[in-house]
Amino acid sequence: MTAHAGQFRHALSRFASGVTIVTCYDAAGRPRGFTASSFTSLSLDPPLVLVCLARSADCHRAFATADRYAVHILRAEQADLAERFGGRRADKFDGTLFCVGEAGTPVLPGALATLSCAAHAVLPGGDHSILVGRVVDMAVADGAPLLHFDRRLWTLPIDPVGGAMAVAGAGTGAMGWLAGDFAAF
Ligand SMILES: Cc1cc2nc3c(=O)[nH]c(=O)nc-3n(C[C@H](O)[C@H](O)[C@H](O)COP(=O)(O)O)c2cc1C
Repeated sequence: MTAHAGQFRHALSRFASGVTIVTCYDAAGRPRGFTASSFTSLSLDPPLVLVCLARSADCHRAFATADRYAVHILRAEQADLAERFGGRRADKFDGTLFCVGEAGTPVLPGALATLSCAAHAVLPGGDHSILVGRVVDMAVADGAPLLHFDRRLWTLPIDPVGGAMAVAGAGTGAMGWLAGDFAAF
């Protein structure tokens, strides 16, 4: 990695995001999945979301050719799952509780939100592909989010103040580091 690439990664590590796991079935009918912090909402009408997947990922072909996939927005208690699906391993689904959703995708229970997507576009994005999905169904639950910041997973106490979501203890070091130093991201 060049010094510039390292600086680029370091700069990007300053951006806090939620954490998702994206799942699909590959052509052989095997469940596939990867952890992604690059999830973004894209359009309200039609309802589109996007996630960026490294072209070097083993699961890239499966997702680039899938006609549907599910995006799970993780809750604070799902850090273990984020780590499991964030590593290169073939057995991500072994011992992992999941079911087949109505849209025909592997669905992991317990997420804050699960978006069932129909593949809308696969766009080039350098060494990543941009998967654009049209949301066809969703399930939403209450709870606290899992966060990704500074190459680590965090939880964040949140309290509603004056009708808005305010961060309790922001700037005071109140965030709790959960686990993992994800040097690659
Ligand atoms: C918190 C976190 C966020 C990640 N975000 C992304 C991402 O947005 N895009 C991506 O391609 N890989 C991301 N990764 C890495 C992939 O999850 C990992 O490389 C993937 O599981 C590899 O899949 P494979 O086993 O099919 O190769 C992330 C990993 C972690 C732990």
